[in-house]
Amino acid sequence: MNFLKVKKSLTIALSLTAFTVFAQEKDDFAKDKASYPLGVAVNIDLMRKDPFYQKILKKEFNSITAENVMKWKYLQPEEGKFNWGAADSLVGYAQSIGAKVHGHCLVWHEALPDWVLKYKGNPEGLEKVMKKHIQTVVSHFKGKVSSWDVVNEAFADEGTGGRRVNIFSETLGPDYLNRAFEYARTVDGGVKLFYNEYGLENDKAKLEAVLEWIKSCKANNIPLDGIGLQCHVNLKNTTSQFTNMINKLKDTRLLIHISELDIMVNGDPKTPGNVVKLTPEIQDDQAILLKTLVTAYNYLPRDQRFGITFWGVSDRDSWIKKYYNRLDFPCLWDEKYKRKQAYSALYNTVK
Ligand code: G3I
Repeated sequence: MNFLKVKKSLTIALSLTAFTVFAQEKDDFAKDKASYPLGVAVNIDLMRKDPFYQKILKKEFNSITAENVMKWKYLQPEEGKFNWGAADSLVGYAQSIGAKVHGHCLVWHEALPDWVLKYKGNPEGLEKVMKKHIQTVVSHFKGKVSSWDVVNEAFADEGTGGRRVNIFSETLGPDYLNRAFEYARTVDGGVKLFYNEYGLENDKAKLEAVLEWIKSCKANNIPLDGIGLQCHVNLKNTTSQFTNMINKLKDTRLLIHISELDIMVNGDPKTPGNVVKLTPEIQDDQAILLKTLVTAYNYLPRDQRFGITFWGVSDRDSWIKKYYNRLDFPCLWDEKYKRKQAYSALYNTVK
């Protein structure tokens, strides 16, 4: 190879490297490259008091989800008594940084206040309180929250393909799911209504059950606009799992939201790993997995890409460590709020 050709190939190699490193620069943001919103689940305490956290929210995201304060037990802690303070301050903060708000979540078997549990076995009573909660909350945030996770995690795990047994399914029957969407639509004709679920990338039976339900929603004119794929994934997940899930959901023509993305490096909960330090190699593995998932997401038609939301800003504030009581490094920023390799992968893959 003659000198000029060597020089040319070196130039290309250097410019590519520079391009990849470029995403490490502080004034270059993935959200400005993405044709869909990039969001994050916000911890209200950090939003209120951590300047580093606030800076990342302001510069890096254009969609905000409340990690907790819009759940039933926070919004209606006592029957009939609604507590809007924290959620309203989060909406106000989102508006101040020009971000939209995705509501999470109206009906879920977790984060329920104790008073709801007394309605178990009382279908008339539970139907009334479920309808009232949904319609009061959606009405309160009308014009401020542009989309909602109406129901969260209503399908069973472990490949059973059935419905999750919870207070709502046991007391109201499986169609509480459909009625929840109808109640929300009645009070806000413009808000986008989502069903949110985890594990659809690796539980084939759950994915098929959700797809069957989506078909029934279309047949019965249930006002379902989109599906939230939580995507709490780990380094054992594979490209084919992501492409299979995305392809099947693409055919529904619904909006698709990657709604709670984080990438555990310590295996899945059943086979926890023992990574105690975030090495460059682990960072690379995490970045590669993120790249495969975002690449699969990009294959969706543009009008179905609702956005990608990360569940937490930094490894320091991720729910995973508390929930599984072990170390992990699942987020885009490290414990010191420094961008990780995964961020560069996001920057270089969004479109
Ligand atoms: O704020 C209280 C604090 O005052 C108290 O001292 C402490 C100890 O009990 O609890 C604190 O509340 C905790 C809350 O997070 C705020 O940190 C709750 O116990 C804890 O259960 C709650 O966990 C949240 C979990 O949902 C259950 O609601 C996580 O932060 C949140 O990341 C997680 O998010 C869920 C999504 O909503 C749905 N998809 C799965 C995802 C992960 O589980």
